[in-house]
Amino acid sequence: MVTLSINGTSHTVDVPGDMPLLWVLRDVIGLTGTKFGCGMALCGACTVQLDGRPIRSCVTPVAAVSGKRITTIEGIGATPSGKKVQQAWLDLDVVQCGYCQSGQIMAAAALLASRPHPTDTDIDAAMAGNICRCGTYVRIRAAIKRAGG
Ligand code: FES
Ligand code: FES
Repeated sequence: MVTLSINGTSHTVDVPGDMPLLWVLRDVIGLTGTKFGCGMALCGACTVQLDGRPIRSCVTPVAAVSGKRITTIEGIGATPSGKKVQQAWLDLDVVQCGYCQSGQIMAAAALLASRPHPTDTDIDAAMAGNICRCGTYVRIRAAIKRAGG
């Protein structure tokens, strides 16, 4: 049994400790907003926050996050930076197909929580691991700046 705190709610799940957090979120708990892309920590589609920091849930064993504060795309709008990011995403129509976007938003919200007015260099460093096949990078950058403005 593993007990997880997700978006402020406690969940006790009967899964092997080495199961990736992404599998637990999607298949056991039913939070499907976090996406599977590569499964190898290469694309960022599976990004969630652990105690406010972005992590790749596809390569994070669930036992390693027990007792820590997990935030997913379903809960990020309840945080101050997440709310600003989601509004900026809507204002600038950032999304194209959408597949990468929950990961993008989780990474952007973590950046803004730690650096409320990020520079281009900050944005490049924070977002480099989040790939978008639709090439929405220009709008993502503009939306992060808007949310930080
Ligand atoms: S699915 Fe986790 S980084 Fe690609
Ligand atoms: S919006 Fe389609 S992959 Fe990013």
